[in-house]
Amino acid sequence: MEIVHLSAECYPVAKAGGLGDVVGALPKYQCKAGHIAKVVMPMYRTPFLYNHEWSVDFKGHANLANWYFDFTVIKEKHNTLGYDLYLIDINGLLDRQKIYGYDDDTERFTAFQIAGLTWMKSWEHRPDVVHCHDYHTGLTPFIMRYAFDFQALSGIKTIFTIHNAQYQGWMTWDKSRYIPRWDLWKRGMLEWANNINPLASAVKCCDRVTTVSQSYLEELKFQSNGLEKLFEYERGKCVGILNGIDNEVWNPATDNYLQHHFSITSVTKGKEKNKELLCHRFGFDLQKPLIVFIGRLVGEKAAELLPDAIAGAIYQFGHTASYLILGSGEHQVEGRLTDMLMPFSGTYNAVIGYDEKLSHLMYAGADFLLMPSRVEPCGLNQMYAMRYGTVPMVRSTGGLKDTVVDMGETEGFGIRFDQATAGDIIYSIGRAIQVYRDKNFLLLMRERMMQIDHSWENTVQQYDQVYQS
Ligand code: ADP
Ligand code: GLC
Repeated sequence: MEIVHLSAECYPVAKAGGLGDVVGALPKYQCKAGHIAKVVMPMYRTPFLYNHEWSVDFKGHANLANWYFDFTVIKEKHNTLGYDLYLIDINGLLDRQKIYGYDDDTERFTAFQIAGLTWMKSWEHRPDVVHCHDYHTGLTPFIMRYAFDFQALSGIKTIFTIHNAQYQGWMTWDKSRYIPRWDLWKRGMLEWANNINPLASAVKCCDRVTTVSQSYLEELKFQSNGLEKLFEYERGKCVGILNGIDNEVWNPATDNYLQHHFSITSVTKGKEKNKELLCHRFGFDLQKPLIVFIGRLVGEKAAELLPDAIAGAIYQFGHTASYLILGSGEHQVEGRLTDMLMPFSGTYNAVIGYDEKLSHLMYAGADFLLMPSRVEPCGLNQMYAMRYGTVPMVRSTGGLKDTVVDMGETEGFGIRFDQATAGDIIYSIGRAIQVYRDKNFLLLMRERMMQIDHSWENTVQQYDQVYQS
């Protein structure tokens, strides 16, 4: 099959979170399984662009309402990522360093989709599947079905994968003129709650919807930022497929970012060497359990609970553990985490920002990884942690529920809690501090989780089944 992925992120070209990891890896494993998988994404100005060689594949023009724009499609020359990678350049809209966060994101991603489909129309053949990811590509199924000038693409099957339904890309109706001339009778296929809702539109118009874990699919029917009834109604076309992880990138025995490699047979020594680096850099005591958080500092991740939870744990358990945070997001949370640096120095530290290299060292060197998420469609951090022998401490929700077994249960290896509250986090930290003293059990848990296979090799088959259906 020929599968074209449309996405706003793709690691290592441009990544803001897990979406980048997934779109960066899934096509590679689809190609290994014998398919032709391609990725089409915006041409941001990230280092990857300047460090690789490109050829021009297509030059065209299109319209966003009255604005006539030129675009260029370039292709990475050497198949570096294991699949064909195409970037779409639109001057004035996509030629920026960041992926999101601009006032004109609606215009940027709408123009990206129109350009992508205009280019696809020019192909001499048709792919089997167009696979869209999250709301940034959510108007694509509608355009392919109901825009007059894109009818040549209407026979292609469309899959929409929801990585996060919190963000839906809402647009007011005056922006409907951005969408290429469409059948006005189909207004309902764009609409949700009196707005144009690209995520809802994709769910209505595509052939199949997938979410990134089974539990998240169930949760969407009860809690999906206003779309609950839609997910209930469309349940027949929805499938939950747990994400895989790229075992070539995330492997403690070969990880390019690590100085000290290890495997299941050398996990205790290997983790200690990595932990030494962290303790040295952040002023921690090597003997104490190291609990870390890596991620976006936003409400979904319950990041605003971290200051109270850490301060509360230090108050309750004294300086018996070390805490390290890596993340960026809401300014208020960043500020509170920074304010705690002085009073808790030697026990707590934080890096506010995005640092891929440090994140790898933290998965390798930490003893526990905390994820108190309110919403976690899949979550990759806990799977990376498990592969690096780091005990996940997670709230029982979404993909966290589907991947982590509490240490109190048969074959357990993690710590689970129910509420996104400082109290539940502090209680879990207490359990972590206690289990850290039992070195034999800690080793047993590490061995258990490192043997779990979350590789994409298994997961691509589940996507195949969806495509075939
Ligand atoms: P989400 O996509 O919701 O942010 P995931 O758990 O799916 O959550 O994926 C997060 C990804 O982003 C992981 O690869 C994680 O290591 C990475 N990440 C998040 N924040 C940072 C950061 N500040 N520095 C480095 N990597 C980060
Ligand atoms: C989203 C979700 C996260 C998931 C990732 C990749 O960003 O928040 O839980 O792991 O997408 O699918």
